[in-house]
Amino acid sequence: MITQNKTIAVLDSGVGGLSIFETISKSLPELSIVYACDNKNFPYGPKSQEKVLQCISELAKNVISQFSPSLLVIACNTASTIALDSLRKTISIPIVGVVPAIKPAASISKTRVIGLLATPGTVQRPYTDQLVKDHAAHCLVIKVGSTKLVEMAEDKLRGISCNLETLRAELSPFFPEGKHSPIDTIVLGCTHFPLLLEELKNVIPKKVTWLDSSQAIAQRVATLVSPHTSCSKILTAVFTEMNNEARALIPYLTRLGFSEFEEISSRI
Ligand code: DGL
Repeated sequence: MITQNKTIAVLDSGVGGLSIFETISKSLPELSIVYACDNKNFPYGPKSQEKVLQCISELAKNVISQFSPSLLVIACNTASTIALDSLRKTISIPIVGVVPAIKPAASISKTRVIGLLATPGTVQRPYTDQLVKDHAAHCLVIKVGSTKLVEMAEDKLRGISCNLETLRAELSPFFPEGKHSPIDTIVLGCTHFPLLLEELKNVIPKKVTWLDSSQAIAQRVATLVSPHTSCSKILTAVFTEMNNEARALIPYLTRLGFSEFEEISSRI
């Protein structure tokens, strides 16, 4: 289905979905985008499946009722690996989900040892196990779930720099033998993590290929929207709670081109 409305919505628990937003916005610069951040319920990673399903369903419904987007991007692996089927049953507009890039990682890894860096929720989901079974059965997949990294990405966008020692410690399970560890590819299976890519590259003992899903998502969105070029583009950021932490993001969001900042109303 090709949609005609030029506004789409990108949803996440926090700022992680901005890594997806940026890639979509670069490849479809004329598109108006509502970025919805469920900061009231952040983080999703340690929450139960039921709770995450409830949070993302409410967020999606509130965004649809307030902005009538033509398409939703669930820019959150933690939510997508649980909620896509359920959301698609109850929501009639197209929904694009973001899930860990296990398939491309397994196809490019030469050593057949790949890492999955995601939230504690995503690394233990049956959905993720199935991705590994279907596409990476010939590989050893080392999984690391980290909420600390999610928080570090949030801090970075608010101007707080990363503690590189903490980052190094979080990544250490991938490199038990330091630079001799066989791992050659790491999947960034949480949308927050591409925001820390420079820091991640700096703390590991050897060079690896880092993979995330943003290009694939932008390509998928491009096949589903047919934007009008005549109307002017608007970038809107909405929060489930407009508190000081949300306000601290406004300088960063302004640099990305956002001009409207609102608290989303709950209408369901
Ligand atoms: N950015 C999210 C993801 O891709 C979730 C981060 C969180 O809320 O724990 O999984």
